[in-house]
Amino acid sequence: MKTKFDNISRRRTLGMLGVGVVAAATALPARFAIGGKAKVRIGTLLPYSGTYTRLGQSITNAMELAFAQAGGKLGGRAIELIKIDSEAKPPKAADLTNKLIGREKVDFIVGPVHSGVAMGMAKIAREEGTMMIVPNAGANQVTGPFCAPNIFRTSFSNWQPGHPMGKVLLDEGKKNVVLCYWAYGAGKQSAQGFKDGFVPHGGNVIKEIGIPFPKVEFQSALTEIASIKPDAVYVFFAGGGAVKFVKDWAAAGLKGKIELVGPGFLTEGVTKAQGAAAEGIRTTLHYADTLDYPANVTFRAAYRKAYGKGADVYGVQGFDAGQLIRAGLEAVGGDTGAKADMIKAMEGASIDSPRGKWTMSSAHNPVQNFYLREVKNGVNEVVKLAMENLSDPAKGCTM
Ligand code: BEZ
Repeated sequence: MKTKFDNISRRRTLGMLGVGVVAAATALPARFAIGGKAKVRIGTLLPYSGTYTRLGQSITNAMELAFAQAGGKLGGRAIELIKIDSEAKPPKAADLTNKLIGREKVDFIVGPVHSGVAMGMAKIAREEGTMMIVPNAGANQVTGPFCAPNIFRTSFSNWQPGHPMGKVLLDEGKKNVVLCYWAYGAGKQSAQGFKDGFVPHGGNVIKEIGIPFPKVEFQSALTEIASIKPDAVYVFFAGGGAVKFVKDWAAAGLKGKIELVGPGFLTEGVTKAQGAAAEGIRTTLHYADTLDYPANVTFRAAYRKAYGKGADVYGVQGFDAGQLIRAGLEAVGGDTGAKADMIKAMEGASIDSPRGKWTMSSAHNPVQNFYLREVKNGVNEVVKLAMENLSDPAKGCTM
């Protein structure tokens, strides 16, 4: 089947970007002429500085692990990674994406972590037809109105991870909840996912408190929460912000008095830094450290051996991004020009994920299980399956 991706030439791509058209066009056939010998160029646009640094590192580490496990070659071609720090700053997204596609001439872009950066990246990837794998950012739009055949996500939509928490709280008779989140796309969409599973079934959201990203001054929010005394507080924070929030929560004397819940980002990859303050926190997510799948046991052991620390959900998503790229390239013998066939293979790929089996929705977002977890001795342990095969509504995707 011929799709628009068979027609997008490097010449057109570069022409749209207004960079080195002649030189690049002459370089292109050479790349195909040497076929299997040329390296596949994979550009990462991930945070290697700022509050989301550890998320970007974890994704990169695990993706590199997946490539190493494939013998360092995909579809017979060696891999070259070009890493750019997104700084989790949306205003920089367009320039940096153009740099990867136009100047670095990457075959795949992998990123980002931050939903705002994802919006800028996806817009360009969509226009240019460059293969894009999102290993974290949950912006609903990426697999909603911005969905495209060349854009895949191996993580979640922001709507998904908090959605099961509404039922968890209602089943325990906790009806009055305050929401507190970084007030950008991810926090707002996460809150909406939670509300969609809570409010129509009798839950009451008393108050929503937004904190500008990436600020970590939580004192006035905590004082307000203490005076409201809700049954529970649902929060969206991750990385460095999650460490600070959980510690501040305990220091404010709220731990053990009001239940603190959220999507699992609150305690992913950060329990060591949070220490005793994290113990007992319950969250919902598509992953837990103790998932009893052979693929998870093997992955965690390999990650620890390679990097000397424990794996987290960001690593799982990066590992699966690596596996997805591998499936696509192996299906076409490394011919990155055969986009339609590569896309088809990626859509139908069966990935042995540490999180367990998941499938790609028609909008290219994982359909996956979500677990209720609890932090015990610094480990995000599975409590129970909270929702099975949860699919994002993918509103506005017309692919
Ligand atoms: C986001 O911006 O989409 C995001 C960042 C960190 C964790 C989860 C989602």
